[in-house]
Amino acid sequence: MFEASAAIQAQETTRAYDRIAPLYDLIDGIYEHSWKRRLRSKLFQYATGRILDVGVGTGCNIPFYPKDSHVIGVDVSEKMLERARGRAQESACSVTLKSMNLFSLDFPDNSFDTVTITFVLLCLPDELQEPALRELKRVTKPDGQILVLDYQMSSKPGVRLWRKYLSPWLKWAFAARFDSTTEQYVEKAGLSITKKQTFMSDGVAMLILQSDEDNAAPVEKPVTVEKAVDVETSIVPIPEVA
Ligand SMILES: C[S@@+](CC[C@H](N)C(=O)[O-])C[C@H]1O[C@@H](n2cnc3c(N)ncnc32)[C@H](O)[C@@H]1O
Repeated sequence: MFEASAAIQAQETTRAYDRIAPLYDLIDGIYEHSWKRRLRSKLFQYATGRILDVGVGTGCNIPFYPKDSHVIGVDVSEKMLERARGRAQESACSVTLKSMNLFSLDFPDNSFDTVTITFVLLCLPDELQEPALRELKRVTKPDGQILVLDYQMSSKPGVRLWRKYLSPWLKWAFAARFDSTTEQYVEKAGLSITKKQTFMSDGVAMLILQSDEDNAAPVEKPVTVEKAVDVETSIVPIPEVA
């Protein structure tokens, strides 16, 4: 019964990202260069085999795709995909970009070894987190992995405070939120966290997820939870792109 909510989310998100696409890289540039790139590079160290990048956006992950890999990137916003096409052309990898809603991925079950999703689940309300994870799981091979990089609620009061003031802007401009609740829905979606690492005063998390099903080969269990060296040196009240 999530379909109606998912349809609204896709509609609102498409509108927001089609509007912001021409400015996206400019607005997010300071974050991209100061810390996002570093985390993208960490995340893609775990990407192997056939890869699906969900919510590929303007293609900021493309420079970090493993050498010689073939990656399919999907997004609901055609305008974001247009910008990603430029990056794809410059890439040494084979990149295919498609317009697609993450709630109805047009791929058979068990299609990918790795599914990546960076700063996308923050566009979803709580009730859509589990259906989204279930759809990602469906297209991931039983022994494959889902790599998530996203905002989460920080444990630091200072960060929570300035994010609180920026939240209305984030919601309006990027249909997004800082307090993504994905982790709470991992188990319900039949997945488990095999690795978790937090960054930026606990405000950003990298999760590696794997199917909970019996036929899945255990990878890096039990869960390792690491706090990476915090690189956030100053809190600049600049609107932060999701
Ligand atoms: C903040 S951007 C992140 C883009 C990119 N992954 C990155 O790390 O820079 C969020 C992207 O998710 C896409 N998105 C949001 N909801 C989606 C959905 N239901 N299906 C597919 N893409 C979606 C948006 O269109 C947007 O391009």
